[in-house]
Amino acid sequence: MIKLDAMENPYDLPEQLRHDWLQHLAGVNLNRYPDADMLPLRRKIAKRDGVDPEQVLLGNGSDEIIQMLLLATNPGTCVVPRPTFVMYDMISRWLKRPVASAPLRADFSLDADHFLQVCAREKAEIAFLACPNNPTGNLWDEETISRIARGLNGQLVIDEAYGPFAERAHTHLISSNVMVLRTFSKLGWAGLRLGYLLGDADQIAHLNKVRMPYNINALTQASAEFLLDHFDVFEQQAAVIRSERERLHKALARIKALTVFPSQTNFLLVRVPDAAAVFTGLKQAGILIKSMHGADPMLAQCVRITVGTTEENDAVIAALKEMSL
Ligand SMILES: Cc1ncc(COP(=O)(O)O)c(C=O)c1O
Repeated sequence: MIKLDAMENPYDLPEQLRHDWLQHLAGVNLNRYPDADMLPLRRKIAKRDGVDPEQVLLGNGSDEIIQMLLLATNPGTCVVPRPTFVMYDMISRWLKRPVASAPLRADFSLDADHFLQVCAREKAEIAFLACPNNPTGNLWDEETISRIARGLNGQLVIDEAYGPFAERAHTHLISSNVMVLRTFSKLGWAGLRLGYLLGDADQIAHLNKVRMPYNINALTQASAEFLLDHFDVFEQQAAVIRSERERLHKALARIKALTVFPSQTNFLLVRVPDAAAVFTGLKQAGILIKSMHGADPMLAQCVRITVGTTEENDAVIAALKEMSL
């Protein structure tokens, strides 16, 4: 099965790097608890991202950091755009935190004034903006995001899970109430479960109080420290994925029955005549994608296709061309 349903990087580690990584892991003492403070790893990440190690909080995937944020922030409403990444809403509800949403416009752009009005009306304590957004794939314009950053009274979390595939980052907006969330999952380390939050040092210290002491296991810590020294490999893979995304976009846009939305991520949102039929047809062709139909009225008859390798993308193009859409 060609797996294009979870926004994973389709490329595994190159042979030599895999060999060296395994040798590095052989030095880990499994009988010992992991390093709870993880200063060496935070230092490496901080250096790469141009912040201080005290500004870095590590999580077992960014999902865990979303949970920490929703646990540690004052009780009060969480505001999100709609549609967006489902975990903001789900985790808020698990934690009995009210959630309010501001719908995107029909073209998936975000109305900053309306978003801020909803935040003010609901007395938002926290808001999440996925930049670029999942599942729509687009990146809201800079002025929209900075206006929300300036105008919000509560905490703003700018989630850059798809940052490696986007034309712009937002670390310059970090302040006492604006944080940036990142993950290594989409860059090729989904199996390691490692995400991080960048923010004001006081905010990070506050959030660190709800972090489980050993939330990042020893193998993940050792892997990340090793792989960060070979980051060019993953940056090159991301560049290939970006150019494959453009190629896939063009090829699918040529199929009359499809509407392909602009993407700054490693996936494409595509409106098809019948999402269930396309999902089943691709599955029969050995390709697994995600149907978004039913997730939100704005996503009616939409499917989300992760960008794969050249061969995988060719298989998607061929299968969709063959279907009588
Ligand atoms: C916008 C966004 N944020 C966060 C995540 C979670 O990533 P992870 O927990 O793998 O770091 C995802 C996963 O799909 C996502 O789409």
